[in-house]
Amino acid sequence: MQIQQFRYSADNLGYLVFSEKTGVAIDAGAVADMTDFAQKNHITIKYVTNTHLHHDHISGNDQLLEKTGAVFLDCRDFADNQKIQLDGETLTVLTTPGHTHDSVCFAADDFLVTGDTLFNGTVGNCFSGDLEAFYHSLKKLTAFAGHTKIFAGHDYVAESLETAEAIDPDNLDILQYRKKYDPALVLSTLEDELLVNPFLRFNAQAMIKKLQQRNFSCHTEKQRFISLMEAF
Ligand SMILES: [Fe+2]
Repeated sequence: MQIQQFRYSADNLGYLVFSEKTGVAIDAGAVADMTDFAQKNHITIKYVTNTHLHHDHISGNDQLLEKTGAVFLDCRDFADNQKIQLDGETLTVLTTPGHTHDSVCFAADDFLVTGDTLFNGTVGNCFSGDLEAFYHSLKKLTAFAGHTKIFAGHDYVAESLETAEAIDPDNLDILQYRKKYDPALVLSTLEDELLVNPFLRFNAQAMIKKLQQRNFSCHTEKQRFISLMEAF
């Protein structure tokens, strides 16, 4: 399975995930760029779907559906582990409530499309209010192999790294991470996220120490995640 990233609006990132001849558009805000790419590469856009239904992620749906005649897959109807087949290749849907109740991510062999659940350098706001669900969703994502590429719903890298540095100025991995940043193709690996992303570092001694200093609850991993979200 291959993936092409499309930037639109100020910092949104949408994707075409495709196999040999067919693809699925995920958060298709960049309609013209996406259809041009598909045409040039002889890819039929078979499905249009979203990581969640926030306005900036669904803004291209109607136009792309009209242009392509693709089938709309409403992310609210997905079951966990549901498969999307493209020419015999499989994209797996992961239900990942937290940012919103309807948030989903998409998993291929070596990449994840993570929407506003997991960004490069931070995690999404917990608009659902359900931090426990958010924790379990992030655990689903971090269970993937370290080399798995993370394709997120926004380019928030610069501000995320600033925040990460402010929280943990002694973390030298942030410097290395910053060097790899390329606005023309925004991605990271899960391995990098686990070193740098403060909200995934709930088992890092440095973060636990910071939480303890502020008297946040730290006994379980879940508590530490919730504490990190509340503290920072
Ligand atoms: Fe969102």
